[in-house]
Amino acid sequence: MPTTHSVDLSTCKKCHLCAEVCPAGIIQADDTARFLDNRVHLCIRCGQCMAACPTKSISIEGLSYEKDFFELPQRQEGWQEAFYGLISSRRSIRNFQDKPVPRELLEKIVRAITFAPPGFTPLTVELTVINNRELIRSAVPQMAKMYDSLIKMQANPLMRPVFKLMVGKENYQVLSGHVLPLMKARMPALKAGAEDTIARGAPAMILFHAPAHNEDIFIALAFGLLAAHSLGLGACAIGLIPPAISRDPKLRKLFQIPKGNMVLSSMLLGYPKYKYSRGIKRSPAGLTWIE
Ligand SMILES: Cc1cc2nc3c(=O)[nH]c(=O)nc-3n(C[C@H](O)[C@H](O)[C@H](O)COP(=O)(O)O)c2cc1C
Repeated sequence: MPTTHSVDLSTCKKCHLCAEVCPAGIIQADDTARFLDNRVHLCIRCGQCMAACPTKSISIEGLSYEKDFFELPQRQEGWQEAFYGLISSRRSIRNFQDKPVPRELLEKIVRAITFAPPGFTPLTVELTVINNRELIRSAVPQMAKMYDSLIKMQANPLMRPVFKLMVGKENYQVLSGHVLPLMKARMPALKAGAEDTIARGAPAMILFHAPAHNEDIFIALAFGLLAAHSLGLGACAIGLIPPAISRDPKLRKLFQIPKGNMVLSSMLLGYPKYKYSRGIKRSPAGLTWIE
């Protein structure tokens, strides 16, 4: 298939940066710079060559300097401290003020999510932003129903092996040891809509969905959580919500999840009700240095 990948040799300074940064090694740079015909199909359209070129001499099919790139901010004094201050003060927020989230803040969070590194481009993660507390609240009893049926399956000795097989060994352990006992204690209030230990009365929520299991989703989620915190919002990743929506046609319709997509993660958002007086230190489960 012919491509429009090219180097404008009239402006190219032959600095070879394009070839150095290309992860797929598809640019030959010697006395000139050119795309290698036999490798061009390996291009992942990450845009690194275009971003690095000081003279904007590179053209990649489907990318344009005007539409797809922006000027980078200068590295500033204090970035490192600001970054550590931001990530170390983030907590999962499950108590929200009765205050709506301005749309422009949600737009900023969406923008931050697009900066998360994808395994490949184009992005396969789709987002649904729900900025409506009542709509989210209205879905909670329906979400609880899925957990109610899982509780019943697990309690039934005949159904338990099917349940185990259905969710997989690891998920079964988490579900039976932690999630289902918690949900069981709350179930009557959840189903009646009297309590919301799933969506926590959040005024806004972002759903991350894609056609198949996708590792990019959790990096995107992390960017979203940090962006929310940087904007003075509280956020919490909620693993309980994705399967409840994915498997329920009513909820899929309510949240406009496209056919064929699975909701893979979710994030609640709102203004935090409480402030924390201190951060928490945690260590990795293991740490090995090899030098
Ligand atoms: C993938 C993922 C799923 C999560 N699911 C839930 C959830 O369903 N309900 C909940 O209350 N918190 C959920 N959390 C938040 C964790 O419980 C929280 O990150 C953990 O308790 C650590 O607290 P911190 O974020 O305040 O440091 C989830 C977090 C992640 C990363």
